[in-house]
Amino acid sequence: MFTAQGPTLPELAVQALSSVERGYDLLAPKFDLTPFRTSDRLLEATARTLEPLGPFGEGLDVCCGTGAGTGVLLRLCERRAVGVDFSAGMLGEARSAHPGAPGGPEVGWVRADVRRLPFAGAFDLAVSFGAFGHFLPGERPGLFAGVRAALRPGGLFAFPVGAPPRVGSRAYWTLWGFDAAMRVRNALWRPPFVMYYRTFPLPGVRRELADAGFEVGTLPLEELGRREDGSPRCRLVVARRT
Ligand SMILES: C[S@@+](CC[C@H](N)C(=O)[O-])C[C@H]1O[C@@H](n2cnc3c(N)ncnc32)[C@H](O)[C@@H]1O
Repeated sequence: MFTAQGPTLPELAVQALSSVERGYDLLAPKFDLTPFRTSDRLLEATARTLEPLGPFGEGLDVCCGTGAGTGVLLRLCERRAVGVDFSAGMLGEARSAHPGAPGGPEVGWVRADVRRLPFAGAFDLAVSFGAFGHFLPGERPGLFAGVRAALRPGGLFAFPVGAPPRVGSRAYWTLWGFDAAMRVRNALWRPPFVMYYRTFPLPGVRRELADAGFEVGTLPLEELGRREDGSPRCRLVVARRT
């Protein structure tokens, strides 16, 4: 949740009225103090689940922000971890947080719009955390094709997906309300700020990944527990470039 050291309400309001890129530039210095940064618990569960699928040589963190996922890559990849994001502010924070260690894997930062990823066959592993809400459904095929192209044959694209809240639950209505408010904001205000919670359904995403040329599976993130019906609270999508 938000803390006293985190962004103030007026700061958040200005950020929400900016473009996605500018909004994150403004938020960058305090981003790690917000609930938008991926939690260490989720990062740890992802790292442990991916570890047996390695070793990996080079890894790419798609929409790296301040480098939460790049830290996972630095643990899993032997040669190089690269974070890509279009916010210069977020990349600046990431660079300071992950300078790299002597003898450890190289660290690199690339400023680019991930809808047009500038890589070809360069990575064994790509990860992404907490960013898919920034893409309209129609943009996903291009994004997935770009990640596929960035991977070597047999490379893995992995990202966590939470179980959708039960219809009618408090969490369900909270996310529904957030998305509705965002649609109103985007109908009334320019530039748009694309961030929707309910536009990333796992069955559709699996189909889109398969269409882009991935063999898709999921692994339960057991450390995050199970729901009452026994299903995992969070799964890791593991899509292998065929
Ligand atoms: C919620 S933050 C997540 C950051 C980090 N992955 C984490 O989990 O803490 C979303 C990030 O996606 C980036 N982003 C959104 N749309 C993007 C795009 N089209 N190209 C590159 N980066 C983008 C933003 O700049 C921001 O750093």
